[in-house]
Amino acid sequence: MKTVAAISLFILTGIVTALWFGFDLSEATDSLNYDDEQEGIEDKVVIKFSHVVAENTPKGRAARRFASLIHERTDGDIKVEIYSNGTLYNDQNEYDALKNGHIQMIAPATSKLTERFPKWQVLDLPFAFPNYQAVEEAYEGTIGRTLLDQLEPNVKGMTFWYNGYKQMTSSDQPMILPSDFNRTHVRIMPSPVIESQFHALGASTTQMPFNKTYNNLEVDFINGQENTLSNIYSKNLYKEQDYLTISDHGYLGYVVLMNDEFWSKLSNEHQAIITQALEETTDWIKRHSIEINDTHLRQIKRTASLDVHYLTKKQRVLWKEAVTPVYEETEPIVGESLMQEIYRLQEKYQ
Ligand code: SIN
Repeated sequence: MKTVAAISLFILTGIVTALWFGFDLSEATDSLNYDDEQEGIEDKVVIKFSHVVAENTPKGRAARRFASLIHERTDGDIKVEIYSNGTLYNDQNEYDALKNGHIQMIAPATSKLTERFPKWQVLDLPFAFPNYQAVEEAYEGTIGRTLLDQLEPNVKGMTFWYNGYKQMTSSDQPMILPSDFNRTHVRIMPSPVIESQFHALGASTTQMPFNKTYNNLEVDFINGQENTLSNIYSKNLYKEQDYLTISDHGYLGYVVLMNDEFWSKLSNEHQAIITQALEETTDWIKRHSIEINDTHLRQIKRTASLDVHYLTKKQRVLWKEAVTPVYEETEPIVGESLMQEIYRLQEKYQ
């Protein structure tokens, strides 16, 4: 009986205390919710920047550099959130995510725009650029301006970023002569010119997202692929391959895109800071992409047992002859003036 009375008294005291003071949990919740990252979050501008490569590649490093310049120069008022390795969107859906404003910035390989904007195929022509100056002149001159003008409303082309020449890897035989491409099944980016290039060489192809390449090499669905040395190294593609040919048969670079509605709502001051930071980052990636790819080649040679072959001048001529029809097919699509510009660069820098 005594126990029942004690329990009733305890409950009653609890009810009376709660009614008296009210159920004010604010103090407890306040301390749980506090997070200095969230301080002033409503005033912060957030740029979600999605890309598909690893952090230690030219694009991965340029993205981080850009983010830190922006943080420094806006005193943290603009925050660039980087989603690398395709963790937020992959190469198949990042463009639509940008267009629809789910993210504000991407930097896809130019090849990934070629199905939407056929003139962009000009950049994928095999052996289009004899050296890095030719690439630079293409990106920063008439070709780059013409291509950026092709983009659609709500997608703003900011600049081109550099990676490097593409090289061939394979597992069944070294890719030295065009005839070696027979029986090679190659992963390609979604690009009609790249597809024609491999068909002209005698290989078969499958388009697939970048981050599916490793698994498809592992299960032998494909037995070859082309990419820059930094992509081959950072995604371990070389570990599933026996041969690497340094062929420099095409160039892989990027276009940096922003959601235009987002851009036009930024203050003039913020737009100026972003423009300047992008200009500096472009300059940085132009100067460092070659050395990053060279370092990755050294790492590949150090850690892997694959055979590395440098295409000789004669072999290069044979590859070039084999892909000549690709130029003929592409001219009506990209138009005479862009093709003439490619021929002009080839003559100037050959
Ligand atoms: C990239 O460098 O962004 C990926 C290129 C690829 O899909 O091979």
